[in-house]
Amino acid sequence: MEELNGGYETVDSWKTIMFLYNAALKEVGTKLEILNDEFQYVHQYNPIEHIKTRIKTAESIVHKLRRYGHESSIENMVKYVNDIAGVRLICSFTSDIYRLAEMIGKQSDLKVISIKDYIKSPKESGYKSYHMLVAVPIFLSDSVVDTKVEIQIRTIAMDFWASLEHKIYYKFEGHAPTHISKELKECAEMISALDEKMLSLNNEILGFTQDVQ
Ligand code: GTP
Ligand code: MG
Repeated sequence: MEELNGGYETVDSWKTIMFLYNAALKEVGTKLEILNDEFQYVHQYNPIEHIKTRIKTAESIVHKLRRYGHESSIENMVKYVNDIAGVRLICSFTSDIYRLAEMIGKQSDLKVISIKDYIKSPKESGYKSYHMLVAVPIFLSDSVVDTKVEIQIRTIAMDFWASLEHKIYYKFEGHAPTHISKELKECAEMISALDEKMLSLNNEILGFTQDVQ
């Protein structure tokens, strides 16, 4: 990841850094909207239900650096906090996730830095999502700066679970009683079963509509 820090040598202020992350978020957001529109145009189908973007607050950047055991500095945040700019893609079916990931991977102006497939290997909590860390070049008047954006891709059902689980954990400040964690994990399994059922129903419907055409 060294090359990503080189471009920041001349960038010294918080404001400039946040400007870059905002620009990166806009670039990636627009790029994904265009991919979705093109897919709709070619296949009459939208893989993305909706897109959410967010910039991490200063407070939570400092909190994360502390958790990782690093001092709060602009240099450390650029180096160690990968999700300052975050995009969440919510889609209908699990198959859409891999379709989108492949489309993103093929974009020649996006560098895929790392991938975490929490669908194939869910987290201990039961959390499922597909995470891609990408770098997008931001063209300034006198330089180009590669800026990191975390893309999380998940189904509506996975998003439903993750949002509620996050809220519940927040209430317990991360220390939920064992039976609550266990039940949340069971809920995650129910969510997965629902996703599988919806996907197989959709495949059946698609097969049916293709037959009658
Ligand atoms: P942090 O966990 O953010 O320190 O970084 P990491 O490098 O371990 O990233 P990871 O791929 O684990 O994912 C981080 C993000 O995924 C979080 O900010 C959440 O948005 C989401 N996430 C990861 N695990 C969970 C989970 O158990 N529950 C929920 N609701 N969200 C999760
Ligand atoms: Mg983590």
